[in-house]
Amino acid sequence: MNFEEIVKHRRAIRYYDPEKPLDTARVEHCLRLASLAPTSSNLQLWECYHITDPTVIASLAPACFSQTAVTTAQQLVVFVTKPRLWRQRTHELIELYRADTRKHHPEDKWAKYDKLRADYLLKVIPFTYSRGLGLWGLIRKGLVQITGLFRPVPRQMSEGDLTAVQHKSCALVAQTFMLAMSAEGYDTCPLEGIDTLRVRRLLGLPRGTKINMIVSCGIRDDHRPVGDRIRVPFESQYHRIGE
Ligand SMILES: Cc1cc2nc3c(=O)[nH]c(=O)nc-3n(C[C@H](O)[C@H](O)[C@H](O)COP(=O)(O)O)c2cc1C
Repeated sequence: MNFEEIVKHRRAIRYYDPEKPLDTARVEHCLRLASLAPTSSNLQLWECYHITDPTVIASLAPACFSQTAVTTAQQLVVFVTKPRLWRQRTHELIELYRADTRKHHPEDKWAKYDKLRADYLLKVIPFTYSRGLGLWGLIRKGLVQITGLFRPVPRQMSEGDLTAVQHKSCALVAQTFMLAMSAEGYDTCPLEGIDTLRVRRLLGLPRGTKINMIVSCGIRDDHRPVGDRIRVPFESQYHRIGE
């Protein structure tokens, strides 16, 4: 399939064929491809739980309101954000970028690039991601509003804004996964109609883990109509600024 065919093949599938299992290694490969999705500041504050055990899928179904996209699924992937990983990530990234700089740039640039990375990862990111018992988000937002009177500033600085930032990045990972699955001829359905608290408890996910969405996986049951793609007119959403 070319890219257009892959995008068009991806549909939210609610009934999977019970006779058509998935190759777990291929699904895992799709998740590896999904990890190439862009994330804010490249912090990669997401993880996924690839569920291949049918008994676990069955135990999760009630927490997903017994949607057929789950009860008929061959496998599930639970995408989560892990906001608390930010500090660990900054140190991991410093090392990774350090090695990358030495690989791709002449030695006289190393100190300059190391400093730029360190300034960003050890100053800007802690400023942006620290919680301070939930109070720092408010103070940070206030500081940004005042600074913003005099110069351009990043406005999305409250705790809620940062939650949205992490879910945005995680959703790009999930979408990349769904397209990779489509390229394999596999089907998926993204789900947020779920009781996230129950899912978190059933899977024993660590505290601080926030469920982004579950993507159910299988191969569509050809006897169940998928229906046409329902979209509002593109012209109502498309605004060109320029020629
Ligand atoms: C974030 C998100 C959450 C969704 N949650 C559900 C869900 O809980 N149950 C469901 O059946 N479909 C769910 N969907 C699928 C949408 O209903 C579906 O993508 C939409 O109707 C368009 O259909 P298409 O994907 O086949 O083009 C979700 C989609 C997204 C992006």
